[in-house]
Order: sequence, then C-alpha cells, then structure tokens
Amino acid sequence: MSFPIDRPRRLRVSKGLRRLVRETHLHVDDLVQPYFVVPGEDVRSEISSMPGQYHLSIDRVAIAAKRAYESGIPAIILFGIPETKDDKGSGAYDEKGIIQCAIRSIKEVVPDLLIIADVCLCEYTSHGHCGIIKEGRVDNDSTLELLAETAVSQARAGADIVAPSDMMDGRVAAIRDALDAEGFVDTAILSYAVKYASSYYGPFREAVDSTPQFGDRRGYQMDPGNVQEALREAELDLEEGADMIMVKPGIAYLDVLSAVKQTFQRVTATYQVSGEYAMIEAAAKNGWIDRRAVIMETLLAFKRAGADFIITYFAEEVAGWLNE
Ligand code: PBG
Ligand code: ZN
Repeated sequence: MSFPIDRPRRLRVSKGLRRLVRETHLHVDDLVQPYFVVPGEDVRSEISSMPGQYHLSIDRVAIAAKRAYESGIPAIILFGIPETKDDKGSGAYDEKGIIQCAIRSIKEVVPDLLIIADVCLCEYTSHGHCGIIKEGRVDNDSTLELLAETAVSQARAGADIVAPSDMMDGRVAAIRDALDAEGFVDTAILSYAVKYASSYYGPFREAVDSTPQFGDRRGYQMDPGNVQEALREAELDLEEGADMIMVKPGIAYLDVLSAVKQTFQRVTATYQVSGEYAMIEAAAKNGWIDRRAVIMETLLAFKRAGADFIITYFAEEVAGWLNE
C-alpha cells in the first residue's frame, strides 16, 4: 500500500491524534536532579559555568530536596565539595564528610526521596584524578578499596543508591562485596558503566574544582570513538552486580545508549551532563533557541533512545512544567 491510499500525515492532523499515536513520553518519574553540596551554612551561590545551578550548603540542599520531592521527582544525586582535599581523597570516605552529613540531613527532612550518592575520588583529591596516583598513573587496584569504603560510608549515612563514576576496573564487584559484608544488601548500585572521556564535563569540573592537575582522564574514561567497548563495559558491570547502568554523556551518545539498552534489556540511565546544560542555557540566553522546547525535545530523545531515567540539571524545572 502506498500513496495516495497511505498518507502518514493523516495521523498528524490534530493535536489529539498526535497525542494518541505518540510512542514516547516523558514523565516526572524519569527525572533525577543533581545537587552540589558545599561547606558552610546558608550558602546558595550560583555556579558561574552553570548558570541556574547552585553551590548549596547542607541546610540549603535539604530545602531544595524537599522542593524536588514535592514536585514529584523520585531521586536526586549528590556531589560534594570538601573543605580540604588531599592526595588520597580522604573526604570521600570520611564518616563525617560533606556528602555523608548531607545525606543524613536530607533523610531527616524527606525520608522517601531517593538519594543517589556519586562514588568517586576526584572531588576530594588534591590532584583532581579519580583514583590514587602511583608512579604518575592512576592505580586501579589500590583505588578499589577506597571506592568501596566511600560507598559503604554513604550507605551507612542513608544513601539508597551508590553510583560509581570513577571507571576503575572491578569497582562494581568491590563495592557490592563491601556493601554486603556490612549488611547493606539492599543498597543498589547504579554504575556509570559507559562513561566517555568527554569534553562536555568542563563546567562540572569547574563547579567542583576537579580538573586534573596533570594529564587527563583518557587512561580510565572511554574513547569517544568506541561502541563495542561500551557493550563490554556494560556487560562486565552487570556481571559484577550492577543493578542499573548508565551511559554518559547524553546527547552525543544516543547511539551508544540505544545499543546498550537493546543488547542487555536492563535498567539503563543517561546523564545529560554539565556541558550539554551549559550549551542550551547559552544559546537560550542569546535568543537563538526556544529554551523550553529544546529541553523537552532533548529529554524525549533520551527516552526514545532507550533511557529508563535521566539525570539532568533541568529535572526540577521540567517537573514543574510536567505538572502544569
Ligand atoms: C566524577 C564525575 C564527573 C561527572 C559526574 N561525576 C566529572 C568527570 O568525570 O570529570 C560529570 C558530570 C557533568 O559534567 O555534569 N567522576
Ligand atoms: Zn571522578
């Protein structure tokens, strides 16, 4: 059957028809809002590289979390900026660390809001790398213990989900073992299984002051040209016990997201990262794009490509739009 019998435009005639046949939907349940937690009290200062996003002290992040919960968002993800950094990233696994304290405070205010804790050392190391440096290189195996310790301390504070973003080999198994040994059998692991060495992280690194002091992250994060390797990374993390996996960044890696989702049929998330956020904000500020329309189209694209949920700096605002 073909034209003139078949006319695809028939199903686009009206808003009602378009709604009826739409294949993909964005829902408030799909959104995760990141927050940046800083030391101090009553701090709410705009991040220059990410206009509209803020450094929040613990008291302020608890208020923001409550608002996010009331907007219907199921989960938030936390990043911490410690008072001091050292070569071992001690602040990441300190029982009284910034994230551990923030988790406890948020759980007191909104116990039902899911808290995802990012597991990595780069926000806490003086050199800005995601692991321990040995002979000028990030040492995989000695980093694993510290990542496991970080995840356990976050679970102890009340994190529902831990999300390793370091890209060390074997970290999911190391974290699962450590969590189980401490009795945290129900703490889920969301692995940044497929994380590229991307230039889109720039604004985030400025926000948390984690730009590597020497070299770059290409020795542990993935090469942007690879997709077979992405499937291998996802497979390994699932074998090691990841409950959910993530592809990051988002918009430039939709093909990878689609391949990972179709291959494994497991809960798969994506992260619309800081550079993606900053680009949309910058273009919108100049009046070059319709900000709201572009945000909604982009988030819908992640869903269409196979994302079960999306970590996005737009989460709270989009939840508001979806509730209108
Ligand atoms: C830490 C981490 C990074 C991001 C999330 N966790 C930065 C990096 O790997 O350099 C990036 C998030 C963003 O750009 O929004 N490992
Ligand atoms: Zn890191």
